[in-house]
Amino acid sequence: MNLPEIIKTAKALVADDKGLLAMDESNPTCNRRFAALGIPQNEETRRAYREMIVTTKGLCKCISGAILYDETIRQQKKDGTSFIKAINDAGIIPGIKVDTGAKDMAGHPKEKITEGLDGLRDRLAEYFKMGARFAKWRSMIVVGDRIPSRGCIEANAHTLARYAALCQESGLVPIIEPEVLMDGAHTLEQCFEITEEVLHTVFHQLFRQRVTVEGLILKPNMVVPGLACPKQESVDEVADVTVECLLRAVPAAVPGITFLSGGQSGELASARLNAMNVRFKSRLPWALSFSFARAIQQPALEIWKGEDANIPAAQLALYHRANCNRFARRGEYNVTMEIN
Ligand code: 13P
Repeated sequence: MNLPEIIKTAKALVADDKGLLAMDESNPTCNRRFAALGIPQNEETRRAYREMIVTTKGLCKCISGAILYDETIRQQKKDGTSFIKAINDAGIIPGIKVDTGAKDMAGHPKEKITEGLDGLRDRLAEYFKMGARFAKWRSMIVVGDRIPSRGCIEANAHTLARYAALCQESGLVPIIEPEVLMDGAHTLEQCFEITEEVLHTVFHQLFRQRVTVEGLILKPNMVVPGLACPKQESVDEVADVTVECLLRAVPAAVPGITFLSGGQSGELASARLNAMNVRFKSRLPWALSFSFARAIQQPALEIWKGEDANIPAAQLALYHRANCNRFARRGEYNVTMEIN
């Protein structure tokens, strides 16, 4: 284990007010998003889409690391350059999603447990050899009638910690993503309570599994009311409770927290991240950053639509969202930055 190098990478991932770009949608998820826009769903369109993303000029001004999917890390640009090389040449650190998906949890109706530990050590060694320097694993915590259960929270936290220990052993920074889902009618207070319990359990398990917290990045949800909750709090209220929750549960030694967007619009995700940094940045022990997929990619995907002619406009839209989030990291984002 090369701990100094891992810690250096973790710090680099949250340095200079940059953030992460999650472009690691599994094939079924990517195909679903393509289908919604009438884009053909095959290996070549997924490759072409990812080429559009990684060749966006200036992306490295806002993005420190890009999370890839197994198919993408093995693909090349049309000119034959591997995506890994293209990303490295652009000054961005390549990462890789390594979980194999959230599956129904036995004995726990409606709850999920993320799989992928079997054979993980060998897969991590291969990804490291290919050039990946960090990895991602997402656990999914569903909120509903009397769920999440303690059993689900503990099983997912234990799995995240085992994954993180294997990552550090292999020289990769683990991105730890315990996502409390936004689906449902739960309140902001319920999301707070569940997120706090999940994070405490995750960090307890990380300690048990001897994971070095200086060499990891936490990728949590923001504390928000469920999408179907009638009461939707303001941007500032969400910022306040999210930071309050994180301060209670995340050790100060963690270098950075990079939020998932979870289905929020790009503008709302930027505004909430911005409000957290405006109100708290100078007082926080860790960097508050982003690791968005939809909140960076969605407008670009809607413009691209699978057509080469749309690439320049799609790249502008992608850069715009990445740049807005860089400004949000500094607490300098303003809604007037949005293109009409
Ligand atoms: P969203 O930002 O679209 O929630 O995706 C983040 C992610 O990487 C989910 O694993």
